[in-house]
Amino acid sequence: MQTTGVRIATEVATLHQHAGGPFPLHPLHQPAAKRYPNTMPPTAPTGHVFIATSLDGFIARADGGLDWLTGFNAVGEDHGYDAFIAGMDGICMGRGTFETVAGFDPWPYHLPVILISRTLQAAQIAPHLASRVTLAASPAAALAHAAAQGWRRLYIDGGATIRAFMAIGAVQELVISRVPVLLGAGLPLFGAAAADVALRHVNTTAFPSGLVQSRYRL
Ligand SMILES: NC(=O)c1ccc[n+]([C@@H]2O[C@H](COP(=O)([O-])OP(=O)(O)OC[C@H]3O[C@@H](n4cnc5c(N)ncnc54)[C@H](OP(=O)(O)O)[C@@H]3O)[C@@H](O)[C@H]2O)c1
Repeated sequence: MQTTGVRIATEVATLHQHAGGPFPLHPLHQPAAKRYPNTMPPTAPTGHVFIATSLDGFIARADGGLDWLTGFNAVGEDHGYDAFIAGMDGICMGRGTFETVAGFDPWPYHLPVILISRTLQAAQIAPHLASRVTLAASPAAALAHAAAQGWRRLYIDGGATIRAFMAIGAVQELVISRVPVLLGAGLPLFGAAAADVALRHVNTTAFPSGLVQSRYRL
């Protein structure tokens, strides 16, 4: 009869073989078999997410409040936003996010923005933003516009919008900064999905403030 140690060693060796790499994977940590299909044409830009969540996974309070987050933006740490956005060609954000940032003065983006909405009309966009914001009725329309502009890398922002882009395989990178606060309720980053989504962890940085930032590839 095998001892527990031998049995575990055997299982590890088997997993090692199956994983095909130097590190044995715990069965619970093996990549999920199912992935969202990547249905993007080769000319489509890659999608990149850079977002902060509470430890329990919310990107805003239910009323859109970001007060729990603003303090962490002000601690003087470099969380990499400037470097991230310097590598982008354009931004695609949902109407919910647009309604938050539209009130910022000055307008915080130097990059062109695609605003994704099924309800907004171009006439509802403030005149001073009209030349900076293009409306699109779907992720596919946003990607077509971005591709037509020759953009290669698109910053995707807003919870529902990120989920919609992920569902069509149009997000290749996620940078998630977890703020050490539990909100209990709010607007989620993730929700129900048609299938498991396998992510590859790239790195994680813990900042003195307690913010923990992880980068994943899909
Ligand atoms: N913590 C952070 O780092 C962070 C970052 C970004 C945003 N936020 C906050 O998150 C909140 C917004 O997030 P959210 O998840 O509510 O919304 P969101 O993704 O910004 O916007 C949702 C809206 O986008 C449009 N949309 C989404 N998917 C679509 C699709 N497949 N086709 C067409 N239109 C689509 C719809 O607009 P219509 O209803 O007009 O059709 C939808 O109601 C805001 O409070 C914002 O301040 C936080």
